[in-house]
Amino acid sequence: MNTPLVTQEADQFAPQELHVLGFAGSLRQNSYNRALLRAAQELMPDGMSLSIFDLSHIPLYNADLDQDGIRPPAIELFKQAIAKADALLIATPEYNHSMPGVLKNALDWASRPAGRSPMSGKPAAMMGATGGLWGTIRAQDDLRNVLTSTGSHVMLRRPEILIAQAPQKFDEQGRLTDDTTRTLVTQLLVGLRDWTLRLRAGEPVPAAAPTR
Ligand SMILES: Cc1cc2nc3c(=O)[nH]c(=O)nc-3n(C[C@H](O)[C@H](O)[C@H](O)COP(=O)(O)O)c2cc1C
Repeated sequence: MNTPLVTQEADQFAPQELHVLGFAGSLRQNSYNRALLRAAQELMPDGMSLSIFDLSHIPLYNADLDQDGIRPPAIELFKQAIAKADALLIATPEYNHSMPGVLKNALDWASRPAGRSPMSGKPAAMMGATGGLWGTIRAQDDLRNVLTSTGSHVMLRRPEILIAQAPQKFDEQGRLTDDTTRTLVTQLLVGLRDWTLRLRAGEPVPAAAPTR
């Protein structure tokens, strides 16, 4: 393994902070979705922190290995990172009108064993970037469906981060340069903080403010 699994462990942050675990459904070094997570790290509102888990360490799902004592170490670490996080932030590309297998595979591992999944009850938000015109809307629809299956509390679609024609929104160093998108990402993060705190307090979760 050449890169760390996770940029920072949850317990390295101040205990009063809401800690978000991010991961991207692309393994590409210059991935726009990985860059989008870095932008979220830069735009984190007060009282929140984000660490990024690298899914390149996750092997293909095999139910024979999905048993206590023999589960691959990277899977145990992934599940522990999810369990320790207050919320999840997932950045997905769109592959053939759905999420990439890399992401679905990681979620399949995290979803088991049934009844003991760290995904269950976990607040989650999503965003996505593509070079195409539809901004990952179909991938995000499928991801929302999967997160419903895992029992996660997916944030409502306000705002939606649907980045189309990504090369026009990032510079060559992978920095998100589009001001409108940066504002939307900030709104998503504030919305996720609100969503997570309201769930924690047992309050009914309202829709975040409409943004467009
Ligand atoms: C196998 C494959 C299928 C793709 N299918 C779609 C698609 O259905 N819709 C779309 O908008 N882009 C599609 N793309 C383009 C990707 O969204 C684009 O390459 C994107 O930049 C990948 O995300 P990344 O930059 O984070 O790696 C596809 C790319 C690949 C490799």
